[in-house]
Amino acid sequence: MSQFLITRTLSEEATDAALRADVLRGLTRRPKALPPKWFYDAHGSGLFEMITELPEYYPARAENDLLIATAPDIAAATGARTLIELGSGSSQKTAHLLDALPSLDTYIPIDVSESALTQAGHTLTRERPALNVHALIADFTTGLAIPGAPGPRLFAFLGSTIGNFPPVERAAFLYSIRALLEPGDCLLLGTDLVKDEEALVAAYDDAAGVTAAFNKNLLSVLNQSLDADFDLDAFDHVARWDPANEWVEMLLRSRTDQSVKIPAVGLTVDFAAGEDLRTGISAKFRMQGIRRELTLAGMELTRWWTAGPVYGLALAQPIDAQIITPRPYGPRRSPTDTGTS
Ligand code: AVJ
Repeated sequence: MSQFLITRTLSEEATDAALRADVLRGLTRRPKALPPKWFYDAHGSGLFEMITELPEYYPARAENDLLIATAPDIAAATGARTLIELGSGSSQKTAHLLDALPSLDTYIPIDVSESALTQAGHTLTRERPALNVHALIADFTTGLAIPGAPGPRLFAFLGSTIGNFPPVERAAFLYSIRALLEPGDCLLLGTDLVKDEEALVAAYDDAAGVTAAFNKNLLSVLNQSLDADFDLDAFDHVARWDPANEWVEMLLRSRTDQSVKIPAVGLTVDFAAGEDLRTGISAKFRMQGIRRELTLAGMELTRWWTAGPVYGLALAQPIDAQIITPRPYGPRRSPTDTGTS
């Protein structure tokens, strides 16, 4: 008999305090910036589901097709009995993976969106009577306590959500995942790849304006949660490719000189006409870079699957800690030196 359990590891008070802290810091710094996790209230999560169906938003389809094609390989390479998914959202694409893992016992979806988790949990357990689903309402950017579950465990971080972290946070995040991995566990990482600028920008600036509505929904979240008075029509949605950093930036550009009140944090924020509020980055990757970043975090890239030059799925396993322990002040070793002492 399957069971569905949902645990809130994040109190509403803590979430509210984190939002206030992000808004205080993000709207008083220059350039103004807010982290993308606040997009995903119930309305924002719904808009994101719509984005994944847009003709311009290729990453969702590319990853979905790639997961269908590689799920048997992933199953064989991992033998996973537990699947732990960070930022699981609707869990729709994960269903391919769940169905391909013959030894799967437990699925642990983790997300900040309670509505997405409840919906996904009920659908999944209804369709898979043998599966245990233990959902966690949690913010995986601030540390995770994973409930006990049988190994080997496969951690999945899909949707190229890794691209939403700025590089320093990305390194810290990968390192924190590495710390969770036990021998035999693996990490499956979805990564959108660097490609021509036109396709990249179109994916974040669709003709139907869904991404614009998604971007502006962040202002609605602030209006609702913090009693702010953002006028959504006073900002333009902008998506821009940054070739030096190899990421797409999402911006909200103030149409006029304006002043916005955010009473819950005691702020009045001035925007100049043309001033940008950065609401998110979506970094794009190359295989060599992914391999390097995994290595620096104590993991080894063991498999790499791609859908042409469009999208990549990386499978990584922890490297034995002894191999990566640096000798901080020792002499530089030549490559032929085995380093045994
Ligand atoms: C699911 C967070 C990876 O950055 O591509 C899509 C979010 N934002 N369109 C992405 C998003 C605007 C998406 N992630």
